[in-house]
Amino acid sequence: MRKKIIAGNWKMNKTLDEATVLATEIRSQVMQRGHANLLTILAPPFPYISELAHHCADTDGLALGAQNCHTETQGAFTGEVSAQMIASCGAAFVLVGHSERRLYFQEDAETLRKKINQAYACGLTPIYCIGETWEQRSAGKHVDTVAQQLRESLLHLTPDFFATHPLPILAYEPVWAIGTGNTATTEQAQEMHAFIRNELHQQWNETLAQTTPILYGGSCNASNAADLFACQDIDGGLIGGASLKATDFQHIRQAMLEVLA
Ligand code: PGA
Repeated sequence: MRKKIIAGNWKMNKTLDEATVLATEIRSQVMQRGHANLLTILAPPFPYISELAHHCADTDGLALGAQNCHTETQGAFTGEVSAQMIASCGAAFVLVGHSERRLYFQEDAETLRKKINQAYACGLTPIYCIGETWEQRSAGKHVDTVAQQLRESLLHLTPDFFATHPLPILAYEPVWAIGTGNTATTEQAQEMHAFIRNELHQQWNETLAQTTPILYGGSCNASNAADLFACQDIDGGLIGGASLKATDFQHIRQAMLEVLA
């Protein structure tokens, strides 16, 4: 069975004290109610990773991720954070290609390809985010957009590579659904997830396509999570706003636990 994943993207929110309280609450929820096939990932801001890694260490089913990394390992890049640093602080995952990075920080396909390579080189598993804008969907270009994002930044990796490296996690996040309350319908989400899995099948092989987790993100919350997670090709969620309150996040985890029951 494919791994199920609920990941919280905290974005640029919370003080260290608030972040520690939230992580502690989620940790106890994970310890009380978990499943061998469910992984919960918290992606806090960079400065908190090390502290939270101590809190979350040795908790089965709970891991930390960063929200971004640089393309290089080290050097004169004032203000930047490398994948190597993130790994040394105790995180195992890193978001790459979040639409806010693409839009506000002009991260292009080539940069994201380098970031994915760099994440792997430093022992991190990338969570590669893809998704179309509303304009692209309205013009009927949503499928082509996502195909291009896959091709340009991820599909240079070959099946051989995955003999020695973990599979990536993909997150389909329609840009028009992020932070807007306009969740994709289950039909829209499932259709795109099935398309993505088919692309992996075409470019890689059936085994890799069937084992790569594909998460949905974009206004996923306690009231729509169960319907989304019931879809055949949706393996969990990348949660923004609803990951900032432990009770909301727990409801979303609970929805996945029910799918697994
Ligand atoms: P949202 O954000 O859940 O607040 O829409 C999701 C994301 O940006 O990953």
